[in-house]
Amino acid sequence: MVEYICSRGSSLRLRELLDTTCRLANTLKKYGIHKGDRVAIYMPVTPLAVAAMLACARIGAIHTVVFAGFSAESLAGRIIDSGCKAVITYNQGVRGGRVVELKKTVDEAVKNCPGVKHVFVAQRTDNKVHMDDRDIPLEEEMAKEAPVCAPESMDSEDMLFMLYTSGSTGKPKGIVHTQAGYLLYAAVTHQHVFDYQQGDVFGCVADIGWITGHSYVVYGPLCNGGTSVLFESTPLYPDPGRYWETVQRLKINQFYGAPTAIRLLLKYGDKWVKTYDRSSLKTLGSVGEPINHEAWQWFYRVVGDSRCTLVDTWWQTETGGVCIAPRPSEEGAEVIPAMAMRPFFGIVPALMDENGKVIEGNDVSGALCIAQPWPGLARTIYGDDQRFIDAYFKKYPGYYFTGDGAYRSPEGYYQITGRMDDVINISGHRLGTAEIEDAMDEHPAVPETAVVGYPHEIKGEGAFAFIVLKEDTVQTENVKEELKSIVASKIAKYAVPDHVLLAGSLCRKM
Ligand code: PRX
Repeated sequence: MVEYICSRGSSLRLRELLDTTCRLANTLKKYGIHKGDRVAIYMPVTPLAVAAMLACARIGAIHTVVFAGFSAESLAGRIIDSGCKAVITYNQGVRGGRVVELKKTVDEAVKNCPGVKHVFVAQRTDNKVHMDDRDIPLEEEMAKEAPVCAPESMDSEDMLFMLYTSGSTGKPKGIVHTQAGYLLYAAVTHQHVFDYQQGDVFGCVADIGWITGHSYVVYGPLCNGGTSVLFESTPLYPDPGRYWETVQRLKINQFYGAPTAIRLLLKYGDKWVKTYDRSSLKTLGSVGEPINHEAWQWFYRVVGDSRCTLVDTWWQTETGGVCIAPRPSEEGAEVIPAMAMRPFFGIVPALMDENGKVIEGNDVSGALCIAQPWPGLARTIYGDDQRFIDAYFKKYPGYYFTGDGAYRSPEGYYQITGRMDDVINISGHRLGTAEIEDAMDEHPAVPETAVVGYPHEIKGEGAFAFIVLKEDTVQTENVKEELKSIVASKIAKYAVPDHVLLAGSLCRKM
Protein backbone atom coordinates (compact mmCIF):
# COMPACT_ATOMS: atom_id res chain seq x y z
CA MET A 1 0.00 0.00 0.00
CA VAL A 2 1.32 3.41 -0.87
CA GLU A 3 -0.49 6.23 0.78
CA TYR A 4 -0.24 9.69 2.22
CA ILE A 5 -2.17 10.32 5.40
CA CYS A 6 -2.84 13.89 6.51
CA SER A 7 -2.87 14.90 10.14
CA ARG A 8 -6.41 16.14 9.52
CA GLY A 9 -7.44 12.55 8.85
CA SER A 10 -7.92 12.33 5.10
CA SER A 11 -5.79 9.97 3.07
CA LEU A 12 -4.58 9.85 -0.48
CA ARG A 13 -3.57 6.73 -2.37
CA LEU A 14 -0.63 6.76 -4.75
CA ARG A 15 -3.04 6.49 -7.70
CA GLU A 16 -4.74 9.75 -6.64
CA LEU A 17 -1.41 11.41 -5.95
CA LEU A 18 -0.27 10.41 -9.44
CA ASP A 19 -3.45 11.81 -11.04
CA THR A 20 -3.12 15.07 -9.10
CA THR A 21 0.58 15.32 -9.95
CA CYS A 22 -0.08 14.76 -13.66
CA ARG A 23 -2.89 17.31 -13.81
CA LEU A 24 -0.67 19.82 -12.05
CA ALA A 25 2.27 18.97 -14.32
CA ASN A 26 0.10 19.47 -17.42
CA THR A 27 -1.10 22.81 -16.03
CA LEU A 28 2.48 23.96 -15.52
CA LYS A 29 3.35 22.93 -19.08
CA LYS A 30 0.30 24.73 -20.49
CA TYR A 31 1.59 27.93 -18.90
CA GLY A 32 5.03 27.58 -20.38
CA ILE A 33 6.99 25.83 -17.61
CA HIS A 34 9.45 23.35 -19.09
CA LYS A 35 12.46 21.21 -18.25
CA GLY A 36 15.12 23.22 -16.44
CA ASP A 37 12.77 26.08 -15.39
CA ARG A 38 12.66 26.99 -11.71
CA VAL A 39 9.42 27.07 -9.75
CA ALA A 40 8.97 28.35 -6.18
CA ILE A 41 6.52 26.51 -3.94
CA TYR A 42 5.22 28.57 -1.01
CA MET A 43 2.79 26.19 0.65
CA PRO A 44 2.33 24.43 3.97
CA VAL A 45 2.44 20.64 4.21
CA THR A 46 -0.52 19.42 2.16
CA PRO A 47 -1.12 16.72 -0.46
CA LEU A 48 -1.24 19.43 -3.14
CA ALA A 49 2.13 20.80 -2.04
CA VAL A 50 3.61 17.30 -2.41
CA ALA A 51 1.96 17.02 -5.82
CA ALA A 52 3.47 20.40 -6.75
CA MET A 53 6.97 19.14 -5.92
CA LEU A 54 6.37 15.93 -7.85
CA ALA A 55 4.77 17.77 -10.80
CA CYS A 56 7.92 19.86 -11.17
CA ALA A 57 10.06 16.73 -10.98
CA ARG A 58 7.84 15.01 -13.55
CA ILE A 59 8.37 17.69 -16.19
CA GLY A 60 12.03 18.25 -15.29
CA ALA A 61 11.40 21.66 -13.72
CA ILE A 62 13.35 22.47 -10.57
CA HIS A 63 11.39 23.21 -7.44
CA THR A 64 12.54 25.42 -4.66
CA VAL A 65 10.22 25.07 -1.70
CA VAL A 66 10.25 28.14 0.53
CA PHE A 67 9.05 27.56 4.11
CA ALA A 68 5.64 29.24 4.30
CA GLY A 69 6.71 31.15 7.43
CA PHE A 70 9.31 33.17 5.53
CA SER A 71 8.64 36.84 4.87
CA ALA A 72 7.90 38.38 1.47
CA GLU A 73 11.43 39.71 1.28
CA SER A 74 12.99 36.31 2.00
CA LEU A 75 10.71 34.73 -0.58
CA ALA A 76 11.59 37.40 -3.14
CA GLY A 77 15.33 36.92 -2.51
CA ARG A 78 15.03 33.20 -3.21
CA ILE A 79 12.84 33.72 -6.30
CA ILE A 80 15.30 36.23 -7.76
CA ASP A 81 18.41 34.19 -6.97
CA SER A 82 16.98 31.05 -8.54
CA GLY A 83 15.30 32.88 -11.46
CA CYS A 84 11.88 31.33 -10.84
CA LYS A 85 9.34 31.67 -13.64
CA ALA A 86 6.38 30.75 -11.46
CA VAL A 87 5.20 30.47 -7.88
CA ILE A 88 2.71 27.92 -6.56
CA THR A 89 0.83 28.93 -3.43
CA TYR A 90 -2.52 28.91 -1.64
CA ASN A 91 -4.98 31.74 -1.11
CA GLN A 92 -4.40 31.34 2.63
CA GLY A 93 -2.97 28.80 5.03
CA VAL A 94 -4.28 27.62 8.38
CA ARG A 95 -1.74 26.97 11.09
CA GLY A 96 -2.41 26.30 14.73
CA GLY A 97 -5.96 27.61 14.28
CA ARG A 98 -4.79 30.88 12.70
CA VAL A 99 -5.17 32.02 9.12
CA VAL A 100 -1.90 32.76 7.31
CA GLU A 101 -2.06 35.18 4.39
CA LEU A 102 0.06 33.27 1.90
CA LYS A 103 -1.16 34.90 -1.30
CA LYS A 104 -0.71 38.40 0.12
CA THR A 105 2.89 37.57 0.98
CA VAL A 106 3.46 36.19 -2.51
CA ASP A 107 1.91 39.34 -4.04
CA GLU A 108 4.29 41.48 -2.07
CA ALA A 109 7.26 39.30 -2.99
CA VAL A 110 6.62 39.11 -6.72
CA LYS A 111 6.28 42.90 -7.03
CA ASN A 112 10.06 42.84 -7.17
CA CYS A 113 10.40 39.69 -9.29
CA PRO A 114 9.82 40.54 -12.97
CA GLY A 115 10.90 37.01 -13.97
CA VAL A 116 7.74 35.52 -12.41
CA LYS A 117 5.22 35.10 -15.20
CA HIS A 118 2.54 33.21 -13.28
CA VAL A 119 1.35 32.62 -9.74
CA PHE A 120 -0.71 29.45 -9.39
CA VAL A 121 -3.16 29.90 -6.52
CA ALA A 122 -4.83 26.91 -4.87
CA GLN A 123 -7.69 27.20 -2.37
CA ARG A 124 -7.04 26.22 1.23
CA THR A 125 -9.85 28.30 2.76
CA ASP A 126 -13.18 29.53 1.37
CA ASN A 127 -12.06 33.15 1.53
CA LYS A 128 -11.59 35.05 -1.71
CA VAL A 129 -8.29 36.78 -2.30
CA HIS A 130 -7.34 39.40 -4.86
CA MET A 131 -6.33 37.85 -8.21
CA ASP A 132 -4.15 39.63 -10.79
CA ASP A 133 -3.80 38.88 -14.50
CA ARG A 134 -0.76 36.73 -13.83
CA ASP A 135 -2.63 34.67 -11.18
CA ILE A 136 -4.08 31.31 -12.17
CA PRO A 137 -6.71 29.47 -10.11
CA LEU A 138 -4.87 26.17 -9.78
CA GLU A 139 -7.62 23.64 -9.12
CA GLU A 140 -9.82 25.09 -11.89
CA GLU A 141 -7.02 24.72 -14.41
CA MET A 142 -6.05 21.28 -13.17
CA ALA A 143 -9.64 20.08 -13.67
CA LYS A 144 -9.29 20.83 -17.39
CA GLU A 145 -6.14 18.73 -17.73
CA ALA A 146 -5.65 15.00 -18.30
CA PRO A 147 -4.52 12.89 -15.32
CA VAL A 148 -1.70 11.51 -17.46
CA CYS A 149 1.64 13.17 -18.13
CA ALA A 150 4.65 11.27 -19.42
CA PRO A 151 7.68 11.91 -17.21
CA GLU A 152 10.52 13.87 -18.78
CA SER A 153 13.72 11.87 -19.28
CA MET A 154 16.45 13.22 -17.07
CA ASP A 155 20.14 12.57 -16.64
CA SER A 156 21.13 11.14 -13.27
CA GLU A 157 23.13 14.31 -12.60
CA ASP A 158 20.39 16.76 -13.65
CA MET A 159 19.03 18.95 -10.88
CA LEU A 160 16.02 17.64 -8.98
CA PHE A 161 15.54 20.61 -6.68
CA MET A 162 17.28 23.38 -4.85
CA LEU A 163 16.68 24.43 -1.29
CA TYR A 164 17.95 27.59 0.36
CA THR A 165 19.86 27.38 3.59
CA SER A 166 21.92 29.75 5.70
CA GLY A 167 25.68 29.92 5.90
CA SER A 168 27.99 31.96 8.08
CA THR A 169 28.32 34.73 5.50
CA GLY A 170 26.21 36.31 2.81
CA LYS A 171 22.70 35.56 1.72
CA PRO A 172 21.15 32.09 2.01
CA LYS A 173 22.48 29.78 -0.66
CA GLY A 174 20.55 27.56 -3.05
CA ILE A 175 21.79 24.06 -2.30
CA VAL A 176 21.47 21.88 -5.41
CA HIS A 177 20.45 18.22 -5.25
CA THR A 178 20.40 15.94 -8.24
CA GLN A 179 18.10 13.21 -9.52
CA ALA A 180 19.68 9.84 -8.91
CA GLY A 181 22.15 10.37 -6.09
CA TYR A 182 19.79 12.29 -3.84
CA LEU A 183 16.86 9.92 -4.41
CA LEU A 184 18.97 6.86 -3.78
CA TYR A 185 20.37 8.30 -0.58
CA ALA A 186 16.97 9.50 0.68
CA ALA A 187 15.48 6.06 0.03
CA VAL A 188 18.27 3.99 1.56
CA THR A 189 18.60 6.13 4.68
CA HIS A 190 14.82 6.18 5.13
CA GLN A 191 14.78 2.42 5.14
CA HIS A 192 17.85 1.68 7.26
CA VAL A 193 18.07 4.56 9.74
CA PHE A 194 14.45 4.15 10.81
CA ASP A 195 14.14 0.43 10.13
CA TYR A 196 11.24 1.14 7.79
CA GLN A 197 9.37 -2.03 6.80
CA GLN A 198 6.74 -2.43 4.09
CA GLY A 199 3.34 -1.49 5.49
CA ASP A 200 4.71 0.79 8.21
CA VAL A 201 3.21 4.25 8.64
CA PHE A 202 6.06 6.77 8.68
CA GLY A 203 5.37 9.92 10.67
CA CYS A 204 7.88 12.69 10.02
CA VAL A 205 6.36 15.89 11.40
CA ALA A 206 8.77 18.24 9.62
CA ASP A 207 7.63 20.94 7.22
CA ILE A 208 8.34 20.42 3.53
CA GLY A 209 10.04 23.83 3.58
CA TRP A 210 13.11 22.15 5.10
CA ILE A 211 15.32 19.32 3.91
CA THR A 212 13.84 16.92 6.50
CA GLY A 213 10.46 17.31 4.83
CA HIS A 214 11.96 16.76 1.38
CA SER A 215 13.84 13.60 2.31
CA TYR A 216 11.59 11.98 4.92
CA VAL A 217 8.07 13.23 4.19
CA VAL A 218 8.25 13.14 0.40
CA TYR A 219 11.12 11.53 -1.47
CA GLY A 220 12.42 8.81 0.88
CA PRO A 221 9.04 7.29 1.81
CA LEU A 222 7.76 7.54 -1.78
CA CYS A 223 10.85 5.87 -3.25
CA ASN A 224 10.28 3.02 -0.80
CA GLY A 225 6.59 2.69 -1.66
CA GLY A 226 5.79 3.72 1.88
CA THR A 227 2.96 5.39 3.73
CA SER A 228 3.88 8.88 4.87
CA VAL A 229 2.08 11.24 7.22
CA LEU A 230 1.62 14.92 6.36
CA PHE A 231 1.56 16.95 9.57
CA GLU A 232 0.20 20.43 8.90
CA SER A 233 -0.46 21.57 12.45
CA THR A 234 1.71 22.55 15.43
CA PRO A 235 2.56 20.37 18.46
CA LEU A 236 0.37 22.53 20.73
CA TYR A 237 -2.77 22.87 18.62
CA PRO A 238 -5.46 22.24 19.68
CA ASP A 239 -3.62 20.94 22.76
CA PRO A 240 -0.23 19.46 23.71
CA GLY A 241 -1.51 15.96 22.90
CA ARG A 242 -1.66 16.63 19.16
CA TYR A 243 1.36 14.52 18.17
CA TRP A 244 0.31 11.54 20.27
CA GLU A 245 -3.34 11.72 19.23
CA THR A 246 -2.03 11.61 15.65
CA VAL A 247 0.17 8.61 16.51
CA GLN A 248 -2.84 6.76 17.92
CA ARG A 249 -5.28 7.70 15.15
CA LEU A 250 -2.93 6.93 12.25
CA LYS A 251 -1.09 4.04 13.98
CA ILE A 252 2.26 5.61 13.28
CA ASN A 253 5.23 3.22 13.44
CA GLN A 254 8.11 5.67 13.12
CA PHE A 255 7.85 9.12 14.66
CA TYR A 256 10.48 11.65 13.57
CA GLY A 257 10.61 15.16 15.03
CA ALA A 258 12.77 17.96 16.46
CA PRO A 259 14.21 18.23 19.99
CA THR A 260 12.74 21.73 20.34
CA ALA A 261 9.21 20.30 20.18
CA ILE A 262 10.11 17.53 22.63
CA ARG A 263 11.53 20.09 25.09
CA LEU A 264 8.37 22.14 24.75
CA LEU A 265 6.02 19.19 25.23
CA LEU A 266 7.79 17.71 28.23
CA LYS A 267 6.96 20.91 30.13
CA TYR A 268 3.27 20.05 29.81
CA GLY A 269 3.75 16.75 31.63
CA ASP A 270 3.25 13.08 30.82
CA LYS A 271 -0.54 13.04 30.86
CA TRP A 272 -0.84 14.43 27.32
CA VAL A 273 1.23 11.51 26.07
CA LYS A 274 -0.27 8.79 28.23
CA THR A 275 -3.85 9.63 27.20
CA TYR A 276 -3.11 8.08 23.81
CA ASP A 277 -2.20 4.59 22.66
CA ARG A 278 1.34 4.59 21.29
CA SER A 279 1.79 0.84 20.98
CA SER A 280 2.20 1.15 17.18
CA LEU A 281 5.50 3.06 17.64
CA LYS A 282 8.72 1.17 16.88
CA THR A 283 11.30 3.87 16.16
CA LEU A 284 11.59 7.44 17.44
CA GLY A 285 13.83 9.90 15.66
CA SER A 286 15.31 13.28 16.52
CA VAL A 287 16.82 15.77 14.06
CA GLY A 288 17.99 19.30 13.49
CA GLU A 289 19.86 20.19 16.68
CA PRO A 290 21.51 18.52 19.61
CA ILE A 291 19.05 16.69 21.84
CA ASN A 292 19.76 17.25 25.53
CA HIS A 293 19.68 14.37 28.01
CA GLU A 294 16.42 15.38 29.68
CA ALA A 295 14.57 15.56 26.36
CA TRP A 296 16.12 12.29 25.14
CA GLN A 297 15.11 10.45 28.31
CA TRP A 298 11.56 11.80 28.23
CA PHE A 299 11.15 10.96 24.54
CA TYR A 300 12.53 7.47 25.15
CA ARG A 301 10.80 6.62 28.45
CA VAL A 302 7.49 8.45 28.25
CA VAL A 303 6.73 8.60 24.52
CA GLY A 304 8.46 5.35 23.60
CA ASP A 305 7.65 3.48 26.84
CA SER A 306 11.35 2.51 27.02
CA ARG A 307 10.80 -0.06 24.27
CA CYS A 308 11.31 1.93 21.02
CA THR A 309 14.71 2.57 19.49
CA LEU A 310 15.49 6.29 19.63
CA VAL A 311 17.73 7.50 16.83
CA ASP A 312 19.44 10.88 17.13
CA THR A 313 20.12 11.61 13.47
CA TRP A 314 22.77 14.08 12.36
CA TRP A 315 22.74 15.52 8.88
CA GLN A 316 22.32 18.75 6.91
CA THR A 317 20.57 20.32 3.93
CA GLU A 318 23.81 19.73 2.05
CA THR A 319 24.10 16.02 2.90
CA GLY A 320 20.71 15.07 1.41
CA GLY A 321 20.01 12.45 4.06
CA VAL A 322 21.12 11.16 7.44
CA CYS A 323 24.90 10.73 7.75
CA ILE A 324 25.41 9.78 11.41
CA ALA A 325 22.82 7.93 13.49
CA PRO A 326 22.60 4.96 15.88
CA ARG A 327 21.24 2.90 13.00
CA PRO A 328 21.98 0.97 10.92
CA SER A 329 23.49 -1.32 13.49
CA GLU A 330 23.37 -4.96 14.34
CA GLU A 331 20.23 -6.20 16.04
CA GLY A 332 20.42 -5.36 19.73
CA ALA A 333 23.49 -3.11 19.45
CA GLU A 334 23.69 -0.41 22.09
CA VAL A 335 22.19 3.04 21.67
CA ILE A 336 23.77 5.75 23.78
CA PRO A 337 21.45 8.61 24.85
CA ALA A 338 21.85 11.92 23.01
CA MET A 339 24.50 10.63 20.65
CA ALA A 340 24.33 10.33 16.85
CA MET A 341 26.90 7.52 17.10
CA ARG A 342 27.50 5.60 13.87
CA PRO A 343 28.29 6.76 10.33
CA PHE A 344 25.80 5.56 7.72
CA PHE A 345 26.91 3.22 4.91
CA GLY A 346 29.51 5.00 2.80
CA ILE A 347 30.04 7.89 5.21
CA VAL A 348 33.64 8.26 6.36
CA PRO A 349 33.87 10.91 9.11
CA ALA A 350 37.16 12.58 9.94
CA LEU A 351 37.95 14.96 12.79
CA MET A 352 40.40 17.77 12.03
CA ASP A 353 42.62 19.77 14.33
CA GLU A 354 43.31 23.52 14.09
CA ASN A 355 46.19 22.90 11.69
CA GLY A 356 44.04 20.98 9.26
CA LYS A 357 45.45 17.59 10.23
CA VAL A 358 43.31 14.50 10.73
CA ILE A 359 43.00 13.59 14.41
CA GLU A 360 43.51 9.89 14.90
CA GLY A 361 42.36 7.77 17.81
CA ASN A 362 39.39 7.99 20.12
CA ASP A 363 38.26 10.23 22.97
CA VAL A 364 39.08 13.26 20.80
CA SER A 365 37.25 16.33 19.47
CA GLY A 366 37.67 18.29 16.26
CA ALA A 367 36.07 19.80 13.18
CA LEU A 368 33.74 17.25 11.61
CA CYS A 369 34.57 16.48 7.99
CA ILE A 370 33.60 13.69 5.64
CA ALA A 371 36.45 12.07 3.78
CA GLN A 372 34.80 10.69 0.67
CA PRO A 373 31.78 11.65 -1.44
CA TRP A 374 28.44 9.87 -1.13
CA PRO A 375 25.36 9.87 -3.38
CA GLY A 376 23.33 12.43 -1.40
CA LEU A 377 26.01 15.11 -1.22
CA ALA A 378 24.83 18.43 -2.71
CA ARG A 379 26.44 19.15 -6.06
CA THR A 380 26.78 22.91 -5.91
CA ILE A 381 25.29 26.21 -4.81
CA TYR A 382 22.95 27.39 -7.54
CA GLY A 383 24.78 29.79 -9.81
CA ASP A 384 27.92 29.89 -7.68
CA ASP A 385 30.22 26.87 -7.95
CA GLN A 386 33.08 28.84 -6.43
CA ARG A 387 31.10 29.66 -3.29
CA PHE A 388 30.34 25.95 -2.97
CA ILE A 389 34.03 25.10 -3.13
CA ASP A 390 34.99 27.91 -0.76
CA ALA A 391 32.32 27.07 1.81
CA TYR A 392 32.80 23.32 2.01
CA PHE A 393 36.09 22.16 0.46
CA LYS A 394 38.65 24.91 0.94
CA LYS A 395 39.35 24.79 4.65
CA TYR A 396 40.31 21.10 4.66
CA PRO A 397 41.38 20.26 1.09
CA GLY A 398 40.12 16.86 0.00
CA TYR A 399 37.41 16.78 2.66
CA TYR A 400 33.84 18.03 2.94
CA PHE A 401 33.69 20.34 5.98
CA THR A 402 30.33 20.26 7.72
CA GLY A 403 30.71 23.41 9.83
CA ASP A 404 30.04 21.32 12.95
CA GLY A 405 32.37 20.14 15.67
CA ALA A 406 32.23 16.57 16.98
CA TYR A 407 33.60 14.34 19.71
CA ARG A 408 34.66 10.72 19.06
CA SER A 409 34.12 8.65 22.17
CA PRO A 410 36.45 5.93 23.50
CA GLU A 411 34.19 3.40 21.73
CA GLY A 412 34.52 5.31 18.43
CA TYR A 413 31.01 6.81 18.45
CA TYR A 414 30.33 10.37 17.28
CA GLN A 415 28.65 13.11 19.27
CA ILE A 416 27.93 16.44 17.59
CA THR A 417 29.11 19.37 19.70
CA GLY A 418 27.59 22.22 17.64
CA ARG A 419 28.42 24.69 14.91
CA MET A 420 31.94 26.04 14.65
CA ASP A 421 30.93 29.01 12.51
CA ASP A 422 28.51 31.94 12.77
CA VAL A 423 25.47 29.80 12.14
CA ILE A 424 22.91 29.47 14.91
CA ASN A 425 20.08 27.03 15.27
CA ILE A 426 16.82 28.48 16.58
CA SER A 427 14.20 25.78 17.19
CA GLY A 428 16.02 23.62 14.66
CA HIS A 429 15.94 26.44 12.07
CA ARG A 430 19.36 27.29 10.74
CA LEU A 431 20.27 30.93 10.50
CA GLY A 432 23.43 32.97 9.90
CA THR A 433 23.99 35.64 12.55
CA ALA A 434 25.10 37.90 9.66
CA GLU A 435 21.61 37.65 8.14
CA ILE A 436 20.04 39.08 11.30
CA GLU A 437 22.76 41.75 11.51
CA ASP A 438 22.22 42.75 7.88
CA ALA A 439 18.49 43.13 8.47
CA MET A 440 18.98 45.26 11.60
CA ASP A 441 21.66 47.39 9.94
CA GLU A 442 18.92 48.81 7.72
CA HIS A 443 17.53 50.79 10.65
CA PRO A 444 18.60 54.43 10.14
CA ALA A 445 19.43 54.94 13.83
CA VAL A 446 21.59 51.83 14.13
CA PRO A 447 25.05 52.04 12.60
CA GLU A 448 26.39 48.81 14.05
CA THR A 449 25.03 45.48 15.28
CA ALA A 450 26.38 42.13 16.39
CA VAL A 451 24.32 38.98 16.91
CA VAL A 452 25.31 35.85 18.78
CA GLY A 453 23.49 32.68 19.73
CA TYR A 454 22.86 31.90 23.38
CA PRO A 455 21.48 28.74 25.03
CA HIS A 456 17.68 28.76 25.21
CA GLU A 457 15.73 26.24 27.28
CA ILE A 458 13.11 25.44 24.63
CA LYS A 459 14.49 26.74 21.33
CA GLY A 460 17.95 25.26 21.84
CA GLU A 461 19.46 28.56 20.81
CA GLY A 462 18.10 32.08 20.72
CA ALA A 463 19.48 35.21 19.07
CA PHE A 464 21.00 37.92 21.27
CA ALA A 465 21.64 41.26 19.56
CA PHE A 466 24.06 43.98 20.60
CA ILE A 467 23.43 47.32 18.94
CA VAL A 468 25.08 50.71 18.77
CA LEU A 469 22.78 53.70 18.33
CA LYS A 470 23.56 57.01 16.69
CA GLU A 471 24.34 59.56 19.39
CA ASP A 472 21.25 61.69 18.84
CA THR A 473 18.77 58.78 19.20
CA VAL A 474 16.32 59.34 22.06
CA GLN A 475 13.54 56.76 21.70
CA THR A 476 15.70 53.76 22.44
CA GLU A 477 12.84 51.41 23.41
CA ASN A 478 11.05 52.20 20.15
CA VAL A 479 14.19 51.39 18.23
CA LYS A 480 14.42 47.96 19.86
CA GLU A 481 10.84 47.14 18.83
CA GLU A 482 11.42 48.52 15.34
CA LEU A 483 14.50 46.34 14.98
CA LYS A 484 12.50 43.26 15.94
CA SER A 485 9.83 44.01 13.39
CA ILE A 486 12.46 44.67 10.70
CA VAL A 487 13.89 41.19 11.33
CA ALA A 488 10.42 39.62 11.20
CA SER A 489 9.59 41.31 7.94
CA LYS A 490 12.97 40.80 6.31
CA ILE A 491 13.55 37.20 7.38
CA ALA A 492 10.88 35.46 9.48
CA LYS A 493 9.36 35.67 12.94
CA TYR A 494 11.54 32.90 14.35
CA ALA A 495 14.66 34.97 13.56
CA VAL A 496 13.67 37.87 15.85
CA PRO A 497 16.26 38.32 18.64
CA ASP A 498 14.95 37.55 22.13
CA HIS A 499 17.18 40.26 23.57
CA VAL A 500 18.46 43.53 22.16
CA LEU A 501 21.13 45.20 24.28
CA LEU A 502 22.42 48.71 23.79
CA ALA A 503 26.19 48.90 23.69
CA GLY A 504 28.50 51.92 23.63
CA SER A 505 30.58 50.43 20.86
CA LEU A 506 31.33 47.05 19.36
CA CYS A 507 34.93 46.07 19.29
CA ARG A 508 35.51 43.35 16.71
CA LYS A 509 38.56 41.32 15.99
CA MET A 510 39.79 42.21 12.54
O1 PRX B 1 24.54 21.96 13.33
C1 PRX B 1 23.95 20.80 12.80
C2 PRX B 1 22.48 20.76 13.19
O2 PRX B 1 21.77 21.31 12.10
C3 PRX B 1 22.67 21.70 11.06
C4 PRX B 1 22.04 21.44 9.72
O3 PRX B 1 20.90 22.23 9.58
P1 PRX B 1 19.99 22.06 8.31
O4 PRX B 1 20.79 22.13 7.09
O5 PRX B 1 18.90 23.07 8.46
O6 PRX B 1 19.40 20.62 8.41
C5 PRX B 1 18.66 20.26 9.53
C6 PRX B 1 17.98 18.93 9.31
C7 PRX B 1 18.80 17.85 8.78
C8 PRX B 1 23.90 20.86 11.29
O7 PRX B 1 25.04 21.43 10.69
N1 PRX B 1 22.05 19.37 13.42
C9 PRX B 1 21.29 18.61 12.61
N2 PRX B 1 21.02 17.42 13.19
C10 PRX B 1 21.66 17.41 14.40
C11 PRX B 1 22.32 18.66 14.53
N3 PRX B 1 23.07 18.95 15.62
C12 PRX B 1 23.17 18.01 16.58
N4 PRX B 1 22.57 16.80 16.52
C13 PRX B 1 21.80 16.46 15.45
N5 PRX B 1 21.20 15.28 15.42
